[in-house]
Amino acid sequence: MIETDQIAKKASMLEEVITGLSQEQKTLPSKFFYDEKGSQLFDEITNLKEYYPTRTERKILEDNVNEMEEYLGEEIVLIEPGSGSSEKTRILLGSMQNICCYIPMDISGDYLFKVADQLRDDYPDISIQPLSADYTKPFELPESSPEVRRVVFYPGSTIGNFKLEKVEQFLEVIHDIIGEDGAFLIGVDLKKDIPVLEAAYNDSEEITAAFNKNILEHINRKTGTNFNPDLFDHKAIWNNEKSRIEMHLFVKEAHSVLVDGVEVSFKKGESIHTENSHKYTLEEFEDMVSEWFEVKKVWMDEDQYFSVQYLEPK
Ligand code: AVI
Repeated sequence: MIETDQIAKKASMLEEVITGLSQEQKTLPSKFFYDEKGSQLFDEITNLKEYYPTRTERKILEDNVNEMEEYLGEEIVLIEPGSGSSEKTRILLGSMQNICCYIPMDISGDYLFKVADQLRDDYPDISIQPLSADYTKPFELPESSPEVRRVVFYPGSTIGNFKLEKVEQFLEVIHDIIGEDGAFLIGVDLKKDIPVLEAAYNDSEEITAAFNKNILEHINRKTGTNFNPDLFDHKAIWNNEKSRIEMHLFVKEAHSVLVDGVEVSFKKGESIHTENSHKYTLEEFEDMVSEWFEVKKVWMDEDQYFSVQYLEPK
């Protein structure tokens, strides 16, 4: 059973890789960053001096947790899609008195259940009910989750990594799951000076470069393909028209790679586009969510680099 699952996963990865690399502008899906090594590298990114989002969002949460509690209401179940290590959520779990149940959600079950056990030890008064599910599609909460106000917490500005059509799908799923009395607390990265943005994704320790190249290593490990990461250079570029940082792997010398029997040729100077990270003004974000949500409150840091926003369903 497990083996058939792995064979199916390998086949679908190969199919997505071939599709992406057959386009005029070659692409690879950013979800392929995150195997164990990729997740570790991402953790390292969040501690880099140039990568402002994580520490800025943490500070906003720490500085405003009491006011956020007032907005969220007297008794809530907190749901976190893509919860990972639940690190930032600890700020809420440790300070807010109104959370009676926390539902961390992730596709990968093993890590999720391990984190949940630790949270149970650390927050014995909160019912911890992990849910292993893909939150980009409609999902149900566990039957045992209490009938109180539902609040979805989605930190990190991960919404900025989605294509617009995926954003719309996601907002609809969240709107449905919280119901008309629910709320949505979301981290949103803001537009700022381009050098600050580009430095955050081209760090001097080259951890982001390793993270970007790991997409090729991950595909090699999972499928037995022979991409050579040394033949690529990492570069993140601000795309002003699309208001996003784009991560690319630029080809250093012409070569070709066999992917499941299909020959993929790389020309010197062309790139594989691996990720988008959209940045918003407050108005642009409000506009993007306006079909489903009303923005009721925005908390920001002094520099207005990042925001945590409280939304209610329309
Ligand atoms: C997960 N996500 C919000 C990160 C971002 O900033 O877009 C992913 C990342 N890519 C490179 N550095 C960080």
